[in-house]
Amino acid sequence: MKSYQIITFGCQMNEHDSEVISGMLTQRGYTETEQNPDIVIINTCSIRENADKRFFGTLGQLKKVKIANPDFAVCVCGCMMQQEHITKKLRQSYPWVDVVFGTHNIHEFPDMLEEMFERRAAEGEWTVKQVRSSKEFRVDRIYEDRDEIVEGLPAKRLFGHKSFVNIMYGCNNFCTYCIVPYTRGREKSRHPEDILDEVRGLAADGVKEVTLLGQNVNSYRGKSKADGKTWDFTDLIYALNELEGLERIRFMTSHPKDLSDRLIEAFGKCEKLCNYIHRPVQSGSSSVLKRMNRKYTREQYLELVRKLRETVPGIAISTDIIVGFPGETEEEFEETLSLAKEVCYDSAFTFLYSPRQGTPAAEYEDQIPEEVKHERFNRLVDIMNEGSKSRNAAYVGRVCRVLVDGPDKKESGILNGRTEEFKLVDFEGPEELVGQIINVKITSSNTFSLRGEIVND
Ligand code: SAH
Ligand code: SF4
Ligand code: F3S
Repeated sequence: MKSYQIITFGCQMNEHDSEVISGMLTQRGYTETEQNPDIVIINTCSIRENADKRFFGTLGQLKKVKIANPDFAVCVCGCMMQQEHITKKLRQSYPWVDVVFGTHNIHEFPDMLEEMFERRAAEGEWTVKQVRSSKEFRVDRIYEDRDEIVEGLPAKRLFGHKSFVNIMYGCNNFCTYCIVPYTRGREKSRHPEDILDEVRGLAADGVKEVTLLGQNVNSYRGKSKADGKTWDFTDLIYALNELEGLERIRFMTSHPKDLSDRLIEAFGKCEKLCNYIHRPVQSGSSSVLKRMNRKYTREQYLELVRKLRETVPGIAISTDIIVGFPGETEEEFEETLSLAKEVCYDSAFTFLYSPRQGTPAAEYEDQIPEEVKHERFNRLVDIMNEGSKSRNAAYVGRVCRVLVDGPDKKESGILNGRTEEFKLVDFEGPEELVGQIINVKITSSNTFSLRGEIVND
């Protein structure tokens, strides 16, 4: 049977989609490998320009493999395939790609792959000339959007003890810089029963921690199959909190515009819900937020942070920030700096604004010069790092519950794990502890991680 490798760019949604692709291929008898695979699948991301670049760079390398071995198959999928200018470019410059599919038909991929092999067997290997003149891929199917959610697909998980669970797909928010609503379609929530069944199954299989995924989990509205009632995100959290065997619940991402009081309260009431929240602010300036179509102001955001910290003592807060959004003035940028100082985030992802074709902001005329973006970016990162460093320093001396993820990639004898607050902790210990929740006393800290030692209960 043939072997495959998946190369994934992008967010947790894409990582999880890759787990599903892997699960489906495994079910059909394909084996996963990192060494000379027969099939490579590239799962792409459109969020920023460097994700685009990495994709085309990888394709360039694979072309050499393809020339040396015509039996080799290259399949591409993910968010970039939902953009017409990308598929057009692929047709023109990379017609040797074998299978192309989008974000709405992952479930069709194993059949498409087999169809491709059958066509190849029937049509014979294409000559270089045929490939150049074809301007067609062997098999491609991309849909604009679909109402249905396909349930019951297998997933090959990266970890035995923790797992991603999609609760909804798509996004309706149309932030003016963002490509996701165009590549992932409109919001669709899964039925709560389907989510609960999946998590029950995972827990029975030894999974201790689930991360509920959605571009904006706070707008989850799942219709119950039992009585037709609509569940919101907090209803789902309360129900999951009751599941036996499950120990931790996380979620990503929560849009600041609609974080409900009930959800904030749930942190105190649901012991499995981890004390951690990712709340992308994007900018500290209300005027920039307005141009971004984020639907909240600086003041509203800060008020929610205050409420969260008051109701959930010790909660860790992380964020995403975009630097150099079109028209961002020095004063507006300084408002982002002051917000960052005021909130003092546990961690942050900072991005240079990258114009995405097809989004409103890409058309704005007041684009910020690259050097200004970079200069602002560096100033912001310094402040963010100071914040993370001081938040981490407060952990020294504390005993934390840590879910052990695995051995450290660099240092032998060292294990890595995560606290409830999603802090990365390194400590000495035997590999048998992987997948267990243990007590670790924090002995030192730095900007991105903590160091500790195992202590007994
Ligand atoms: N749904 C999530 C974000 C998903 S995209 C939310 O709304 O919070 C992850 C992050 O990428 C965003 O939070 C944003 O900070 C960044 N991002 C999105 N589009 C971008 C662009 N065009 N340029 C730079 N960063 C961008
Ligand atoms: Fe993009 Fe905004 Fe939707 Fe997040 S909420 S995915 S940033 S459009
Ligand atoms: Fe990228 Fe698509 Fe995720 S654009 S960030 S992989 S939803």
